[in-house]
Amino acid sequence: MSDPHAPVDVSAFPHDFLWGTATSAYQIEGAVSEDGRSPSIWDTFSHTPGKIDNDDHGDIACDHYHRWREDIALMRQLGTNAYRLSVAWPRVVPGGDGVVNAKGLDFYDEVIDSLLAQGITPSVTLYHWDLPQVLQDRGGWPARETAEHFAAYAAVVAERLGDRVKHWTPLNEPLCSAWIGHLEGRMAPGWTDLTAAVQASYHLLLGHGLATQAIRAAVPGAEIGIVNNLAQVEPATDRPEDIAAARRMDGHANRWWLDPVHGRGFPADMVEVYGVELPEKAGDLATIAEPLDWLGLNYYFPSAIADHPAGPAPYADSVRRLGVPRTGMDWEVDANGIETLLLRLTHEYGARKLYVTENGSAFPDVVRPDGTVDDPEREEYLVNHIAACARAARKGAPLAGYFAWSLLDNFEWAYGYDKRFGLVHVDYATQARTIKGSGHRYADIVRRHGSRSRRAA
Ligand code: GCO
Repeated sequence: MSDPHAPVDVSAFPHDFLWGTATSAYQIEGAVSEDGRSPSIWDTFSHTPGKIDNDDHGDIACDHYHRWREDIALMRQLGTNAYRLSVAWPRVVPGGDGVVNAKGLDFYDEVIDSLLAQGITPSVTLYHWDLPQVLQDRGGWPARETAEHFAAYAAVVAERLGDRVKHWTPLNEPLCSAWIGHLEGRMAPGWTDLTAAVQASYHLLLGHGLATQAIRAAVPGAEIGIVNNLAQVEPATDRPEDIAAARRMDGHANRWWLDPVHGRGFPADMVEVYGVELPEKAGDLATIAEPLDWLGLNYYFPSAIADHPAGPAPYADSVRRLGVPRTGMDWEVDANGIETLLLRLTHEYGARKLYVTENGSAFPDVVRPDGTVDDPEREEYLVNHIAACARAARKGAPLAGYFAWSLLDNFEWAYGYDKRFGLVHVDYATQARTIKGSGHRYADIVRRHGSRSRRAA
């Protein structure tokens, strides 16, 4: 390994590059019954025995709802100039549709004002998986009305924050909501129903389009994107069945989510694989293809894919490659995947602007007796992936920002709190925050780029 402390060459990034961190409401806020917030499907799922490791849940999480000022101060200490947060629909419209909860909006209003006062650009995600339970009870994402209620909620938030927030994404990783939540069952609402999953995927993208229209109507100059966790897949072997399986997994994880928003419709090969009639109504595809200003890439790891005839769809599954480095999530480490995907979005989808909206790694942290947290593996992952982003930029990827996942250790969905992704360590017993070695390294990279851009300006 090259010198792990050598400066990363980020000179290819533009002078106004966004250096950020990312979080999501359910993973950090806590205060799940405070100030009018109603239960979300993740409150329900995390309180269902056996769904979450150690029976963890988000009732308190990082207590960000009360400690947000301290957390913004940490962003300042890191020197970051951007922050990607999600707004909790159940705080803002507790009934899912209709009455707006002023206290819910007030919370985000204060956070946005404080971010701006600190020179930190907010990037707002409207849905990071926390659907109000009341809408789940009325059919959830398999029901078309949920997409329509999502657009109404989007309008409420955009009208309140749009004078100060210009960077928006309606959805975070609709793949996880649809496939992991409705087909694999490992995320809320925990269904294993292919028809419901395909219907949910369709209405999530319809909701994305309707919300994009709502934000455009409310926010002059809005820059709107979609955030997908794209998969860098390759066949596990050169067997025809594994090559075909990799193509199906590329359709399942990538093309199903990218093609429709680029006006290409739902990939015909995958419609055939799923064998589910799309709940399409006239005009829907045009709504889903509402023009976007940027694409967000959440990248973590590559996958080797083999044929998996037993299913579920897409009848393909990752295989465990030996001799490759892995993170604490048992995910492969290969920074080349982020470069490849950024260039694919550039050349195959004509992206005019790209953001890495999430990238990071979980490793066990050791808090030393003096309270410092040294995390060399997470630091190496961070450095190598930022360097890969710089390679993509040098090859023409219009990369405009990088958001490290995550600012804080937080609730890692079905894994609970054991998996730590933060640049900042959270002691959940005391809620004490400690910037880790990786956080200090990120601050150094940001500072050096800033100094270069100052020289270049
Ligand atoms: C996701 C989510 C994050 C995760 C992170 C680590 O990409 O799954 O956006 O909420 O916590 O990716 O798994």
